[in-house]
Amino acid sequence: MKEIFERRSVREFLQKEIEKEKIDKLLKAAMQAPSAMNEQPWEFIVVDDKNLLQEISKIGMGAEMVKEAPLAIVILADEKKFTLKYKNIKEYFPPEMGACCQNMLLEAVHLGLGTVWVCGFPLEERVKNLNKIFNFPENISPFCVVAVGYPKNEDANYYLDRFDETRVKYNKYN
Ligand SMILES: Cc1cc2nc3c(=O)[nH]c(=O)nc-3n(C[C@H](O)[C@H](O)[C@H](O)COP(=O)(O)O)c2cc1C
Repeated sequence: MKEIFERRSVREFLQKEIEKEKIDKLLKAAMQAPSAMNEQPWEFIVVDDKNLLQEISKIGMGAEMVKEAPLAIVILADEKKFTLKYKNIKEYFPPEMGACCQNMLLEAVHLGLGTVWVCGFPLEERVKNLNKIFNFPENISPFCVVAVGYPKNEDANYYLDRFDETRVKYNKYN
C-alpha cells in the first residue's frame, strides 16, 4: 500500500485549517484498529486552540513542532475498557494503542496531510505534563500526540526503502 511506504514524520506545516471531513476520517481510521477482545480502549482530544497547541509543544523535547501545527490529536487510553489480563496497565500499554495511532498516520498520508507521532507514553514526564494540561480523570491515560497539518514541503511524504532481508528468517532462527 502506497501510504505505508510514503509516510514520513512531517514537522513543518502550512498555516491552513484542516477540513472537518478530514479530521473525521483520521478519527474513523484510528478507531478501525484491531484490539484484544475488541475492547477499543481509545479516546481522542482534537486540539485546534492555539494556546493549547502552544502548551502541548512544551511537554518535552521533540514536541516543539506542535505549536506550528494547525491541529493536534491527543490519543488517550481508557483503562476501564482494558480486559482483565491487561489490568496492570500503568506498567505498559497494550499494542492496540500503537495500531490505533498508526492507522491515523496512514490515513493522513492518504488525505494529503502530514503527521508526526509525538511521544507521550512511556515517558513519565510527558504523560505528567499532558495530565497537567487536560486534567484527565484517573482512568484516562494519554498515549501520544499526533501533530497534523498540510506539509510545508509538498514532497514531505516520500518513499523510503527500509527493506532489509538480513532481518528475515524462514522457519528457524539459526
Ligand atoms: C513511539 C514513537 C515516539 C516518537 N516520538 C517523537 C517525538 O516525540 N518527536 C518527534 O519529532 N518524532 C517522534 N517520533 C517519530 C520518529 O522520530 C520517526 O518515526 C523516525 O525518526 C522515523 O522517521 P519516519 O517517521 O519519517 O519514517 C516518534 C515515533 C514513535 C513511533
